[in-house]
This record gives sequence, structure tokens and C-alpha cells, in this order.
Amino acid sequence: MSDIIEDIEIRLLLEALYQRFHYDFRDYAQASIRRRLRQARDQLGFANFSALQEHLLHDDDMLPRLLGYLTVQVSEMFRDPSFFRTIREKVVPHLRTYPSLKLWVAGCSAGEELYSYVILFREEGLEDRTLFYATDISEEALAAASRGIYSLDRIRTFTENHRASGGKSSLSDYYTSAYGNAVFDKSLRDRVVFSDHSLVTDAVFGEMQFVSCRNVMIYFNRELQDRAIGLFNDSLMRNGFLGLGSKENLRFSRHADAFTDFVREEKIYQRREQ
Ligand SMILES: C[S@@+](CC[C@H](N)C(=O)[O-])C[C@H]1O[C@@H](n2cnc3c(N)ncnc32)[C@H](O)[C@@H]1O
Repeated sequence: MSDIIEDIEIRLLLEALYQRFHYDFRDYAQASIRRRLRQARDQLGFANFSALQEHLLHDDDMLPRLLGYLTVQVSEMFRDPSFFRTIREKVVPHLRTYPSLKLWVAGCSAGEELYSYVILFREEGLEDRTLFYATDISEEALAAASRGIYSLDRIRTFTENHRASGGKSSLSDYYTSAYGNAVFDKSLRDRVVFSDHSLVTDAVFGEMQFVSCRNVMIYFNRELQDRAIGLFNDSLMRNGFLGLGSKENLRFSRHADAFTDFVREEKIYQRREQ
């Protein structure tokens, strides 16, 4: 099939997804969306995207299946440990000066990043004064995040990352093992609000001291990245911190001037006074 027809079909499919269900992938980075949609089309057994679109509009169970292909859920606890070590050593001393804190983990996936912060904040004595907001567009990911259960196969990596991030205890203090899984302690969720929120279509969220949005904007085109960074700018208090993933940065954003590099190599930024 020609690329032109495929382009038309993809645009119509994404438009249908938006018009019918309000999930807006229209301005995600094209190459990765195309790759994921081709995978969905082939694995779900459709001859073309028009057939997939018909099922999306008429079969109730097609939406979650398609979203499973469109949202990338790769994550790890204490992913890129030097990032979390820097938070511990350089950001926490600033955060300690606030009597109460709000931290927003945008695009939290199945909770690995969220629990990293909660554990770090507990170890640093900040948990009791912090409210954690964990948001994502994927209902499945949010449900997994609020369960806090991970396969024991993954725990070795999580444990090594936690140690390398300067962890002050053993990761095993925070979970119990059951049937091949690590079940993380319920108390880690005492101060967490889980919420469905899209960086593409939804409005600003509270007033935060810290926003973490890692490995989410890599899937957006430049305009969407700008929209998301605008949201973080509006949502952070002055001198608040923004943490991005290793492949992301603010340099090309029209909001770049609103931030200073706090620790450039770790992609930690601070909102300017004005
Ligand atoms: C690769 S995961 C990153 C997980 C975690 N932040 C990390 O760095 O390990 C990307 C996450 O972004 C979420 N996502 C995609 N589009 C989004 C949007 N418009 N608003 C909020 N989250 C989104 C996906 O559902 C997925 O959970």
C-alpha cells in the first residue's frame, strides 16, 4: 500500500480516537506513532488502518487494546540512579526548607518512578510533609501504580538502582514477596493521589515544588513538548524544580528562559524567580 494512503488512514484513525474518546495522539512524534500503529494493525490482525478504525468505533474492547500499543510503559525504579542521587544530594536540601511540599510525577506509568520518590522522601525525612500526585493517561498503568505489585524478576535491577542512588536502607524493607511478586507496602501510598491527566489535552495541576516528567515528552512533537513545558512552568512555584529524562531537555522550548539549569547533566531545572 502506498505511503500516501497509509498517511491518510493514520490521520483519520487518530482523529477518530480523539473525536470519539478524547485521547489525542495527533501531535505525537510521527515515526514512533506510525511504528506502534503498524504493530497494532498486524498483531490485532487487521488488513489496514481503516479496518482497525471501524473496530475502534464499533467494538467496546478495542480502545484499551489500541491504547496498549500507543502508550509505551517502559520504566524502572530509581531509573538512571545518578538522577536520584542528585535529587538526594542537591535538591533535597532546598526542599527541606519548605514546611509542606507537593510533587507531581507526570506520566507515572505503572508507578516505578513514583515509588522511587516516595521511598527517597521517606529516607530523607520529607515524606510526612509531602503530597505526591501521580498522573498518566493510561488507566491500566494507573491501576498498576495503585496496586504497587511488581514481578520479582525486576527487583534485582530496582535494588541495584536504589543502592546506586544512595539508598539509605534496603529496598526489601519496603515490600514483601508473594507468589513471585514484590508487593510494596501500602503505607507508601498514604500520601499519593492517583489521577487521570493528559499533558496534551488537560489543564494545569496545583502549585508544585517539584515536577518530574521523565521519558514522556520524547514521544511528543516540538509543539506538544512546548505545551507540556508550559504546563510545568504554570504549575511550579518560583524556584520549584523540574526533572526530565536523560534524552529530554528544555533548550529548544519557547519556555526555556523561564528555567535555569540546576544540574545540567541530570536534566534538573529550576524555575526562575520571575
Ligand atoms: C516510557 S513511560 C515513562 C514512565 C516514567 N516516567 C519513567 O521515566 O520511567 C511513558 C508514560 O507516559 C504516559 N503518557 C503518554 N502520553 C501521555 C500524556 N499525553 N499525558 C500524560 N502521560 C502520558 C504513558 O502512558 C506512559 O505511562
